[in-house]
Amino acid sequence: MNNKHGGTIYAIARQMGIKPSELLDFSASINPLGFSPRVKRALRGHDDAILHYPDQEAHDFIRELAGYHRLSAANIIAGNGSTELIFLLPRVVKTKKVLLVVPTFSEYESSIRKAGGKVFYFRTTEEEQFSIQPQDVLKELQKGYDALYICNPNNPTGVLISKEVLKDIAQSAWQRSTTVIIDETFIDFDESQSLKYETKELENIYILRSMTKFFALPGLRAGYLISAAGNIKKLREQQEPWTMNALAQHAGVESLRDKDYIQRSLHYMKTARHELAAGLQRIFCLKVFASGANYLLIKLLEPAPLSVSGLYNKLLEERIIIRKCNTFQGMGDSFFRIAVRKKSENKMLIGKLRKILEGGKSVNG
Ligand SMILES: Cc1ncc(COP(=O)(O)O)c(C=O)c1O
Repeated sequence: MNNKHGGTIYAIARQMGIKPSELLDFSASINPLGFSPRVKRALRGHDDAILHYPDQEAHDFIRELAGYHRLSAANIIAGNGSTELIFLLPRVVKTKKVLLVVPTFSEYESSIRKAGGKVFYFRTTEEEQFSIQPQDVLKELQKGYDALYICNPNNPTGVLISKEVLKDIAQSAWQRSTTVIIDETFIDFDESQSLKYETKELENIYILRSMTKFFALPGLRAGYLISAAGNIKKLREQQEPWTMNALAQHAGVESLRDKDYIQRSLHYMKTARHELAAGLQRIFCLKVFASGANYLLIKLLEPAPLSVSGLYNKLLEERIIIRKCNTFQGMGDSFFRIAVRKKSENKMLIGKLRKILEGGKSVNG
């Protein structure tokens, strides 16, 4: 089974001989409130769109995004999830020598290698809470790289780098003609830290965005990329036709229009993440890392009664999935990631973890 990603509910359910709906998935980090109610209405109301090819330019979706972000439509390209654009980028930008800040999402590396590029790692460490020291990145860039990839907030560590720090890095990279790809798939939870407006002055920045996480549309596939108009034009020229389907385009438009849902989601996430982290921290053999996204990175500490794999299997017996982090570059076997889900589900998970790890007792009550 492909274990590079969370959210593999179909494969797991097949293996267990159960329905995917019988699983409680903490491995994919999707807005626990689900998608906007306007999406359901849009999908029903626009089912005739299936009879036609989708708008190849995704005009309405891009126009809506432009209004939402207060950017020009010429600065945005839409795709079949941000994954399509991750794979399009190295084919168009032709980056040969690439620096990845790791541990991080695995598809950057796959896409670069498939396009013939060579990957180098800039490692962040547990000792420094997986934060990046900008001066160290800048020093490394002096060695000469075509591109630098930074995921912000980072998957799986949850580390959120401030806009100011990233801007400094992007500016220095610009002077060295280094392209900077910033994956802001999870930035909707703190939009103020997005580097989107910096694309106006810094033409070396490409910002990946997604409708998958915050707007909870993983099965429809909807993503986009923000960059200088000249860069967007080149990407459009190389993009395959009709990659973003018609229903995803409608759902994207309606999601962005639902201001009430957006506010509710932001508020819910803040309180739910706080409560989940606080509950997990009380379990003595867990170390919970600070997160700027809708998931938490957790380390299983000695003397835990079992390994992360053991914990994964025990939870799976209860039809709960967590994300083991051993497939992330340099992470080792003792980390796992869990999504912030509904408050009642989070409470239930905390209870199960206490039972498995402490036999139901907790040192801190
Ligand atoms: C950091 C990051 N970027 C991009 C993606 C891909 O998202 P999409 O569904 O938009 O293709 C993921 C999916 O897990 C992710 O974690």
